[in-house]
Amino acid sequence: MCGIVGYIGTKRACPILLAGLSRLEYRGYDSAGISTIEKDGLSLVKDKGRVKVLEDKPEINSLKGTIGIAHTRWATHGKPSKENSHPHQDNHKIFSVVHNGIIENFQELRSMLEKNGYNFLSQTDTEIIPNLIHYYYEKEHENTVHAFLKAVRNCCLDLKGSFAIEVISKLFPKNMIVVRKDSPLVIGTCEDEKYLSSDIPAILSYTRDFYFLNDLEFALLENTCVKFYNVNLEEIDKPSSSIEWNAAASEKNGYEDFMLKEIYEQPTAIRETIGSKISLDNKCDFEELRFTKSYLETIDKIYIVACGTAMHAGLAGKNVIEKLCRIPVEVDIASEFRYRNPILNEKILCIFISQSGETADTIAALKLAKRCGSKTIALTNVIGSSITREADYSMYTHAGPEIAVASTKAYTSQVLLVNMLAVYFAEILGNTDVSEISNIKQEMLNLPKKIEETFSCKDAIQEFAKKIYQEKDVFFLGRGIDETVAKEGALKLKEISYIHSESYPAGELKHGPISLIENGITVISILTDSALMEKTISNIQEVISRGAKTLVITSHACDPSMFDETIQIPDTITYLSPILSIIPLQLLAYYISKEKGLDVDKPRNLAKSVTVE
Ligand code: M6R
Repeated sequence: MCGIVGYIGTKRACPILLAGLSRLEYRGYDSAGISTIEKDGLSLVKDKGRVKVLEDKPEINSLKGTIGIAHTRWATHGKPSKENSHPHQDNHKIFSVVHNGIIENFQELRSMLEKNGYNFLSQTDTEIIPNLIHYYYEKEHENTVHAFLKAVRNCCLDLKGSFAIEVISKLFPKNMIVVRKDSPLVIGTCEDEKYLSSDIPAILSYTRDFYFLNDLEFALLENTCVKFYNVNLEEIDKPSSSIEWNAAASEKNGYEDFMLKEIYEQPTAIRETIGSKISLDNKCDFEELRFTKSYLETIDKIYIVACGTAMHAGLAGKNVIEKLCRIPVEVDIASEFRYRNPILNEKILCIFISQSGETADTIAALKLAKRCGSKTIALTNVIGSSITREADYSMYTHAGPEIAVASTKAYTSQVLLVNMLAVYFAEILGNTDVSEISNIKQEMLNLPKKIEETFSCKDAIQEFAKKIYQEKDVFFLGRGIDETVAKEGALKLKEISYIHSESYPAGELKHGPISLIENGITVISILTDSALMEKTISNIQEVISRGAKTLVITSHACDPSMFDETIQIPDTITYLSPILSIIPLQLLAYYISKEKGLDVDKPRNLAKSVTVE
């Protein structure tokens, strides 16, 4: 949902900002813009379209300034257009601002500013920000950096909603001010350069040392130093954190698309997520949690709350927690959970899954759970992300940066981590058969190799994609845990190929959806749970007899003549099966999107992290 970058240093800012925008383009790509501090004031170059449009503008070459801010947009208020693109400036062109988030009370603030003589050129909520800063700056009686900081702070106190903001001013050509509330912004630091970005990977090639702001903390930057202030503008200390991801992880490394690279990174992502936590000789240890048996015994229920693919990972993990720990688990969509008055108290444990750690609905749901006295665990891929600052405990998938909008390696790592958490709880509770736990652990350790084996389906999947890429509707079926994979397969397909796809529990078909099955329609089924296999095969027969074309993904021996295409995957225990059975479906979505000539990594209307409601 919009990407922002900033640079303050000794080099020309423009190329650094453009490179950062290209890396952040997955967050929004309908317009882009840049503003730098030049000798004669603030520059402003922006337009509708992708970062490439900005790069090709002749004016870009004349930008020499060493301080600048830039933005790539995912439109919320106002259609994609040059006027609505960021940066925005105040009427006097003294302040340039980029903003990620939504200002909910912008109409009210805009009316107030209009009454005070300000004009607006765009339909955005953001344009009020530079004008409001100007409005407050005018009230200051001194032209000092502190007055600039105070004006930005006073402006932010008026804003309702979410924001990550970078501000530069022609009056203060050595400074930049940044602030965030419920929207991501990180500060990368080197000796005489500072880099700002909506996420870590975009600036990893410059530094591994980062500062993370809490809500309504302000950073006043110069190229050689950063000072931090709380909302009362008292200076505060902030430690920096060193990030272990390497810069190459954020590049395509020879792959055509990030999504394909990330699919093939799954063995490594799983290996890294297991780390040293799982071994056959020792108990699973999450030192970051330190849960006790007596606490776990008080839990009445666990909620797993998340959005999209992360929610599907929760669905895939529900059964293993219930089976091993005998604690009921309910999985909820964050945007529903937060408004449905859920029963929350100190006997409820809530787990929030989010790859980015920045999803607005998930964070809001977490805040609600905390307010109601429940313990909260954030399960995320991004160290320092907003969710980790809100949760009581954080645990990490170590999937490395995920850039493609369609989530792949994050999903499989999340499914694994929920399984690891179940094992951790079960070992503390001590009421599960030790050999069952050993078997799960052994299968976890076998996963990287089995994922490699699963990749051998690639050619068959690519061929199948060629056969069905022009279809309008595709159905996904499964029972039990396979149904949760069907959901994820359908999401992946619709997200990047724009084919309407639906998933159903196979047994539900005849209660309505089967009326949609007609000659030639594609039905994809997942068959890994041996206990449910025969039942699902009967359901597949029902669609075959109504003319459906069938693709079956299975880990068991099946007569291949029964279906149009059968993809054999390695067998594993049911709880871990989504980590293997999703892979052919990720590849299928990828190759269909390629056949259709679509932008796999940046599907229309979507953005990588959804930082607005
Ligand atoms: O960053 P998060 O895991 O919180 O994101 C949640 C969803 O927005 C995300 O999984 C989305 O559904 C993906 N684009 C799916 O591929």
